[in-house]
Amino acid sequence: MTKTDSFSLKFNDGWKYDPAPESIDHISIAEQYGLFINGEFVNSEGSKYFKTINPSNGDTLSKISEANKKDVDKAVDAAKAAFKSWSKMDPSDRAKYIFRIARMIQERAREFAVIESLDGGKPIRESRDIDIPLAAAHFFYYAGWADKLEYAFPGKNTKPIGVAAQIIPWNFPLLMAAWKIAPALACGNTVVLKPAETTPLTALKLAEIIKDSGLPKGVVNIVTGAGKTGSYLVEHPDVDKIAFTGSTEVGKLIRRATAETNKKLTLELGGKAANIIFEDAPIDQAIEGIINGIFFNQGHVCCAGSRLLVQESVLDEVSKKLKARLESLIVGDPLDKNTDVGAINSEAQLEKINSYIQVGKKEGLEMFQSNSKVPSKGFFCKPTLFFNVAQSSRLAKEEIFGPVLAIQSFRTVDEAIEKANNTPYGLSAGVWTDKGSKAFNMSSKLKAGVIWANTYNKFDPTSPFGGYKESGFGREGGVHGLKEYLILENQEG
Ligand code: NAI
Ligand code: MG
Repeated sequence: MTKTDSFSLKFNDGWKYDPAPESIDHISIAEQYGLFINGEFVNSEGSKYFKTINPSNGDTLSKISEANKKDVDKAVDAAKAAFKSWSKMDPSDRAKYIFRIARMIQERAREFAVIESLDGGKPIRESRDIDIPLAAAHFFYYAGWADKLEYAFPGKNTKPIGVAAQIIPWNFPLLMAAWKIAPALACGNTVVLKPAETTPLTALKLAEIIKDSGLPKGVVNIVTGAGKTGSYLVEHPDVDKIAFTGSTEVGKLIRRATAETNKKLTLELGGKAANIIFEDAPIDQAIEGIINGIFFNQGHVCCAGSRLLVQESVLDEVSKKLKARLESLIVGDPLDKNTDVGAINSEAQLEKINSYIQVGKKEGLEMFQSNSKVPSKGFFCKPTLFFNVAQSSRLAKEEIFGPVLAIQSFRTVDEAIEKANNTPYGLSAGVWTDKGSKAFNMSSKLKAGVIWANTYNKFDPTSPFGGYKESGFGREGGVHGLKEYLILENQEG
């Protein structure tokens, strides 16, 4: 028996964590929600509703309004009317509202974290320690820029664009809302935001905060619904800018729909990032980075390190240690503070992930899953490793958006670069090495918007995020993120 085998046996036989569920007594979710338009919650014109469920047990959490074309028209009208005064407001006053929203998110952080985990399935540890604090941090950060835009772009006059339509996905619901709303407001734009249909609750809670903050009516409007509602926003003639995060497929549709218009567009789409482990890397640290890279948020992460490239000389060691580490991952109730991997966001997504696992099995690849128990109710998927994945395999080429890692090996630096860049995507990458020079060399040659060295999946509001190629264009976060919400003109003289 090897050392790692005995470790995993001991772990499973010995330690048992008692359940440590986060309390849900302190939260309130309404039975049904209207749309947030012009500073008020209003009923949808069509009176149509859809359910949002808890993916860890299938329970209905609330009924959500499905905004139709008339609703979207009303929301855009409200944003257009509010733009007149909001864009002219003293920027330091705009900053105060944005700052206030940040403070109110902090005050209600526990409630937001629980609701995020209930609605979307992510572990409470992640929503509590990452999603919600980072969402507040984005509002704080951009509040600071509101009255300093002239310093961000010296020699330029900065003007807001107008009405921004913002369409976001289900993997980081509140965080994506913050990424989009905060810079838009700081620059003097108004907003119509559409959350994803499986995770609308924290955006609706954010609407409560926005109302309580006293933000002028119509500056932020939130319309719920599925793709159809999103398409009404995309097609609306009074929308001046579209910011979309989601699948490459829908990103392409939106690009086509806006091709002959004056609408500004940013797209943050899929990815198939290479996480590259060199033989001189600190291996134990890299194992944690690999685990975090692919199993963070069940792998529902556009920048997930879903392709692992390991230098051949350390492949055996890395493989053994990864298997042992997988045995210690706790898959289960998202609200349990011990849980590492929560519920898959929806039944459709679970089916998609399982179909990729079947692809790997059909290809005859070596597969590894842990012995951990997975709840029988709800949508769960065991963390999964596939070894020796060919470059031509769909597992190495397509975004799975789940806890499935495709492992490949390489011998030389050039081979690592070639394999890493051999993808239609270009969002992120990871490099693990003891040599700073190697990390710099790699980061200049990898075609990806974000490259982490000796870490993975680290986010900060000051740092721009975005992709190349089919991962989209435009940047969110940092000074770069401001630029996407401004018209920059050269100053006279
Ligand atoms: P999606 O791209 O359909 O959904 C993202 C958002 O776009 C949602 O708010 C949705 O309602 C909206 N939307 C859908 N169709 C639209 C349209 N025609 N016009 C305007 N808005 C529209 O993604 P979906 O179907 O939820 O997930 C499918 C796959 O996409 C996933 O399996 C994953 O591979 C990928 N994905 C990638 C994300 C990323 O962050 N890169 C996020 C979500 C999904
Ligand atoms: Mg839900």
